Amino acid sequence: MPIKHVVAPSSVDVFKPDIFQGKVLFCTGGGSGICKVMVEAIMRHGANATIVGRKLDRLTEAANELSQLTGQTCVAARADVRDPQQLKEAVAKTIERFGRIDFVICGAAGNFLASIDGMSENAFKTVVEIDTLGTFNTVKATLPYLRASHGAYIHVSSTLHHKGTPYQAHVSAAKAGVDAFSAVLALEEGPKGIRSNVIAPGPIAGTEGISRLSTQMLRSAGSSAYPLGRMGNVQDVASAAVFLFSDAASYITGQVLVVDGGFEHVRVSQLPYPQAVLDPESVKSMIKGKL
Ligand code: COA
Repeated sequence: MPIKHVVAPSSVDVFKPDIFQGKVLFCTGGGSGICKVMVEAIMRHGANATIVGRKLDRLTEAANELSQLTGQTCVAARADVRDPQQLKEAVAKTIERFGRIDFVICGAAGNFLASIDGMSENAFKTVVEIDTLGTFNTVKATLPYLRASHGAYIHVSSTLHHKGTPYQAHVSAAKAGVDAFSAVLALEEGPKGIRSNVIAPGPIAGTEGISRLSTQMLRSAGSSAYPLGRMGNVQDVASAAVFLFSDAASYITGQVLVVDGGFEHVRVSQLPYPQAVLDPESVKSMIKGKL
C-alpha cells in the first residue's frame, strides 16, 4: 500500500504567515544545519532573529541569507556557548537591535563517534560543556528577557540516549542532561509565563549527523527502514519548532517532542555490535564514513 504523505509540507503552508510578527528569536548554533532551517521557518512567520555561533564569517553569511530569504532581519553574534560572558554580549546585541527576545533555541552542539575507551576525559567534557553547560549558559543569559515577554525555549536534543548507543556516551550523557534541565526549567519558570520543550530529531537527511556521524549502513538504508516511509528532513524539524513556539502549543511545556517518523522504535545499532566494541579497529573506516 503506497504511503501518501512522503514530502514534508513547509510550515508556511500549514500555519499563518504572520503568527510571529513582532517576535524575536535568539538561536545558538543557528549558522548552519537543522538550526539554521528552524530559524528560517520562524522568520518566514514574521520573526526577526539573532543567530549565535563560534565562526563569525559563516554566521554573517547565514544571517544575510536568512534576511534575504524571509524579508525579516537576522543578525549574527559571535559567542561560544561555553563562555557566559560572550553569550551575555550576544544577548545585549540582540536587545540593542530588537529590544526584546521571545523565543530561544538552544541548538549549539558538538559530536563525534568515539567509544568510552577511545575518547579522552577532555573529549567527554568538551561535549558536555557545549551541549549541557552551553544550554544552561544560554538560559541564564536570556531568562530575564523571556520572563518579560512570556516567551518559550526549545532545546535541540537527540534520540540517541533513549537507548544505549555505542560510541555516543558523551552525547548521550549531555543530551540526557539537556532533557532533564528543560523539564526543571518548565516547572520553575512556568508560573512566570515561560514554556520549555525539547525537540529530539532522529536521522535527518542532509545534516552533519548523517554526512559525518552516520555509517554507510544508515545512509543507504532504504525508505522502508522508516515507519513513515522516508528519512526525516530539516523541514520536519523546523515545522515542529514553529508549532512549539506558536500559540497552538500554549499548554505544552516540559515535554520532549521526538521528530523521527517513528524510527526510534525500530532503530538498531548502526555500527556492527558487539564487533564495534570488541574490535574497534575493524570499524574505524565506517566511523570516518569511508565505507
Ligand atoms: N574522536 C575522539 N576525540 C575527539 C574527536 C573524535 N572524533 N574529536 C575531538 N575529540 C577530542 C579532542 O581530541 C580533544 O580532546 P584532547 O584534548 O584530549 O585531545 C577534545 O575532543 C576537544 O576537541 P577540540 O577540537 O579541541 O575542541 P573544540 O571545542 O574545538 O571542538 C567539537 C569540539 C566536539 C565541537 C568538535 O568535534 C567539532 O568542532 N565538531 C564539529 C561541529 C559539531 O560537532 N557539530 C555537531 C554536529 S551534530
